[in-house]
Amino acid sequence: MKEKDSERLATLEEVFDHSTVMTAYSLIRKKIIDHFDGTLSTGKESRVYLAFDLNNNLLAVKIYLITSAEFKRGMRLYLDEYGLKLYNKNFRSAVFYWCEKEFKHLKIAYDANINVPKPITYKNNILVLEFLGEDGKPAPILAECYDIDYEKTYDILVNDIKNLFNCGIVHADLSEYNILYHKEKPYLIDFGQSVKKNHPNALYFLLRDIKNINKFFRERKVSVIEDYELFEKITNP
Ligand SMILES: Nc1ncnc2c1ncn2[C@@H]1O[C@H](COP(=O)(O)OP(=O)(O)OP(=O)(O)O)[C@@H](O)[C@H]1O
Ligand SMILES: [Mg+2]
Repeated sequence: MKEKDSERLATLEEVFDHSTVMTAYSLIRKKIIDHFDGTLSTGKESRVYLAFDLNNNLLAVKIYLITSAEFKRGMRLYLDEYGLKLYNKNFRSAVFYWCEKEFKHLKIAYDANINVPKPITYKNNILVLEFLGEDGKPAPILAECYDIDYEKTYDILVNDIKNLFNCGIVHADLSEYNILYHKEKPYLIDFGQSVKKNHPNALYFLLRDIKNINKFFRERKVSVIEDYELFEKITNP
């Protein structure tokens, strides 16, 4: 490893295990990432870093923590049969599967023109995404947006939830905290918990997503489509 590279990875080394740092390094070697440039978010399950590619485009790099006990507890409900098998054998491989799932579901959504950050690649527990924001400043979460057109934003979100379901996916962690407001549109992020339509709890998760979104917009005085009516509209169009 070149000295410059190891300096760039020094911040990662403070938080992550050796194999995660090696994964980050392999993305640099493959020229997907040029360098890391600060932290965007530190969650219980992951950290999100700002990075640059070789053409100076900004990236959001989400790194899942392999050592988080909270993550380990919370993950089970959202795994499919294969994921559960991995989980019971080796937690690390379940985290890799989780990261792969987030990438694949984001890709399906992106290809269906749903507003999500473009997924660029993934490896092990690292997911590389298009950065949403301007001048290096990340787009705000919907919860922190005040002077916006709520009616229009709600309509876009209803459409996106519906389209996503038509693609066979339920987000399962949807709320004003997992939506970024970018270029006057809502973007769905954080697909780690998302499940396929055939997951045993998919419809329960869909109804919960609908309730969360409706609650937020009701508080913003939008005349929302009632929870069960919207659920019907999405599941039995
Ligand atoms: N593509 C992106 N562009 C810009 N910022 C992003 C992007 N993806 C994530 N972020 C930033 O990182 C934060 C956390 O991302 P995300 O919700 O995917 O991770 P998380 O593990 O759920 O974290 P938390 O537990 O804090 O919700 C977002 O609220 C946002 O500020
Ligand atoms: Mg989140």
